Amino acid sequence: MQISLFRPRIKEEAIAAAGDVLRSGWIGLGPKTLEFEGRFADYVGSPHCVGLNSCTAALHLALKVLNIPAGKEIITTPVTFVSTNHVILYEQLKPIFADIEPMTGNIDVESIKEKITPQTGAIIAMHYGGYPCDLDALYTLAAEHNIPVVEDCAHACGAEYKGHKIGGIGDVHAFSFHAVKNLPMGDGGALTVRSEHFDARLRRLRWLGIDKDTYLRSEGASGKTYQWDYQVAEVGFKYHMTDIEAAIGIVQLDCLENDNNRRRQIADMYSSRLADVPGLQLLEYQPDRLSARHLCCILAEDRDGLVDKLRENGVGVGVHYRRNDLYPMYEKGILPNAEWFSSRVMSLPLHLDLTDEEIVYICELIRGGW
Ligand SMILES: Cc1ncc(COP(=O)(O)O)c(C=O)c1O
Repeated sequence: MQISLFRPRIKEEAIAAAGDVLRSGWIGLGPKTLEFEGRFADYVGSPHCVGLNSCTAALHLALKVLNIPAGKEIITTPVTFVSTNHVILYEQLKPIFADIEPMTGNIDVESIKEKITPQTGAIIAMHYGGYPCDLDALYTLAAEHNIPVVEDCAHACGAEYKGHKIGGIGDVHAFSFHAVKNLPMGDGGALTVRSEHFDARLRRLRWLGIDKDTYLRSEGASGKTYQWDYQVAEVGFKYHMTDIEAAIGIVQLDCLENDNNRRRQIADMYSSRLADVPGLQLLEYQPDRLSARHLCCILAEDRDGLVDKLRENGVGVGVHYRRNDLYPMYEKGILPNAEWFSSRVMSLPLHLDLTDEEIVYICELIRGGW
């Protein structure tokens, strides 16, 4: 048996929609991107959504639009994909690693509190595995110190905090539509923001700083013959979404709630079968939050032994993540919970093609010991 850790499922209708765009004569940034932005903004309950080519780009532009002067400190999590923290370095800012909650993998608000200084420019909070951070505590702390927050929602497409979708609660939220995320579009990302001013500036920043993108100057959008002239307001980036991805995303978004329900069902099957295994702990989730279940993680003693056993038996497993502060471009922190967590954590297969029989097989392997 060979069971993969992740596997994207692109609906046939999405493949057809991408084909329609490819045949349409307009495949870059255009009407499908605008449509996707509107639908995604409505879905998460945000007034604005800006379509981008990745979550890495979204996180970078989030720091850019917040106008944080170079040299300022950004409080962030060490247990994340490096995109979250590399963007801090892109902007000549200084990552300050807070510790995490040992049983969720999320950044610990108490630890953030200890790291705040007059130099703090922003906080980045990542919803680990799709389980929302403690947003009430986070936003209360941030408001007390007047510090902006960026939510890295790469894992949290469809997650909810106290009945509200992640992406519509704070001011700046970065999403990923990468191949194996909950809403896969091939590649892609988005920022959802509350401010109209941020929305307007992000539209320029994603397109080299140009004040009006090519589609808005086209005959299709303006009703006039193609307007070649534009102004470049500032140095921007080539970060925009394309209509090919957007057309896929529009179809995939319609299925997201169902897809996430199946992900939760799979995670529940694992949890009920693995709750009493010696040497194993499950992550602990509060009932006021709904995880998008991008990852299904367990915490294992002798984690590497269990990883080897599962791999030898054809099961793909992953480790999300090594402590980022141990990589050479970062400064090592004193982070006992992050150390404990990242030496135990591992991710089990979780995707829409996984069968119940495969889940039972994986659980039996784990229950057999390692
Ligand atoms: C937590 C986190 N943040 C950011 C990213 C970057 O996403 P993208 O691949 O869309 O740039 C990822 C991707 O895996 C991620 O897991």
